[in-house]
Amino acid sequence: MTPPNDRLLILDFGSQVTQLIARRAREAGVYAAILPYHCGDEAVRAFRPGGIILSGGPTSVVAEGSPRAPDAVWTLGVPVLGICYGQQTMCAQLGGAVESGHAREFGRAELAVTESCALCANVWPVGSHPTVWMSHGDRVTRAPDGFKVIATSSGAPFAFIADEKRQFYGVQFHPEVVHTPDGAALLAAFAHDVCGLSPSWTMGTFRTTEVERLRTFIGPTAKVLCGLSGGVDSAVAAALIHEAIGDRLTCVLVDTGLLREGEADAISDLFGKHYAIPLRVVRAGETFLAALKGVTDPERKRKIIGHLFIDVFEAEAKTIPGATFLAQGTLYPDVIESVAVHGGPASTIKSHHNVGGLPARMNLKLVEPLRELFKDEVRDLGRELGLPDSFVNRHPFPGPGLAIRVLGEVTEERVAILRRADTVYLDEIRQAGLYDSIWQAFAVLLPVRTVGVMGDERSYDNVLALRAVTSVDGMTADTYPFPHDFLARVATRLVGEVRGINRVVYDITSKPPGTIEWE
Ligand code: XMP
Repeated sequence: MTPPNDRLLILDFGSQVTQLIARRAREAGVYAAILPYHCGDEAVRAFRPGGIILSGGPTSVVAEGSPRAPDAVWTLGVPVLGICYGQQTMCAQLGGAVESGHAREFGRAELAVTESCALCANVWPVGSHPTVWMSHGDRVTRAPDGFKVIATSSGAPFAFIADEKRQFYGVQFHPEVVHTPDGAALLAAFAHDVCGLSPSWTMGTFRTTEVERLRTFIGPTAKVLCGLSGGVDSAVAAALIHEAIGDRLTCVLVDTGLLREGEADAISDLFGKHYAIPLRVVRAGETFLAALKGVTDPERKRKIIGHLFIDVFEAEAKTIPGATFLAQGTLYPDVIESVAVHGGPASTIKSHHNVGGLPARMNLKLVEPLRELFKDEVRDLGRELGLPDSFVNRHPFPGPGLAIRVLGEVTEERVAILRRADTVYLDEIRQAGLYDSIWQAFAVLLPVRTVGVMGDERSYDNVLALRAVTSVDGMTADTYPFPHDFLARVATRLVGEVRGINRVVYDITSKPPGTIEWE
């Protein structure tokens, strides 16, 4: 367990990127927990933080009743860093001034560093002009007594301020986002140089503390169900929970018949045999295909698959007596609202989350051990838990599976064509050593037939589209720039080996304006 005082407290004022601050702290080897800004003085003191960070937020500090930090933040005697809204409320609460209606700054801005302080001494020399990311309408117009200006930008005369005596720092920009190139270094400097915290936190620490937390949370006798989707997230969640409670975890793998080639068997080998986790595999391909008969609309496909998945899962779960928890591999980016700063529901999960309505229907409590983590952190945790690299590095795969990649009606024959084509395409990508440089690569079977010539014969067959993108989180994406000869080689193999395809095209649309999937 990380001893108290050796960790950071982040007070969340509702910014969409608050979790990124915690992530940067973890990258710097320091554990950080997030509490809502209104958690109160007692919660702040009880946490015994080694430093406090106040996040950004959507509200205006000058608006009546807008959020304020608990008084304990200023009296505990630990360093405080206010970011954007956090800086503004720091100024408003300590006797400075904030005004709205000035030139708004959104996007990249250039700072002019005019003074040094402990926070930036090792990051930005005086006289430097670092690039930072701004997103604000209000700005500080007078710093509280004791503060000096460290840097300015054209729109923010108090872009970076410091009271070195009290160790209070305020920045108008967002150091937590990647668009502030030195932001991670600045947050690491806050943790190490200003707060004096040692970089001792690792994924191994997360594993140990999370296993302990899960044991307490689940209790000594309760049973847990976990739906394995074939993806990395549910697998890592299952491995972690299994470490915590052993065979009181039962996994259910619904083989929808819409998975990739060999996928259901690979999961069943890894979990059932290698990890010896109790695993039920439900082969439900025919049921799914029957339900999708005649359906061409993408959203209807998703709904049908989602509902059926829940039905099949629920039917299986009912044969496993005594389960009171349902485990999900929900990641932070799946949690749309970070924290309900105004006391609303804690979070909303993306509608395409596979078992969305299940917990309420089955009266199960949720266990979500990955909900503070980002995808690449989950992969690190998977490696830490001993999952094979080939599994951990797998590209994301959507819940509705191949059904949203067979455009138009989903039939057994068309799924089989796509499944084979997908295998050939990914095989070539792996052979070329490109798999790990790509976020997601897959084939799409189009409802279009074209004329071709094979041998001496005219063919009239399906078109296959190939997609490969790079991305950080799936929210935006760029086309992967395959060398031309690679694409030509794949096309030759596909048309030669996969019966039913006589033409191959490559999708070169970025996201936005395109989406990653075609449906
Ligand atoms: P789009 O197509 O929206 O995809 O750019 C972004 C990411 O989400 C995945 N995706 C889904 N995942 N159920 C899922 O579990 C779905 O219905 C779904 N639709 C898209 C997609 O594969 C990509 O990684």
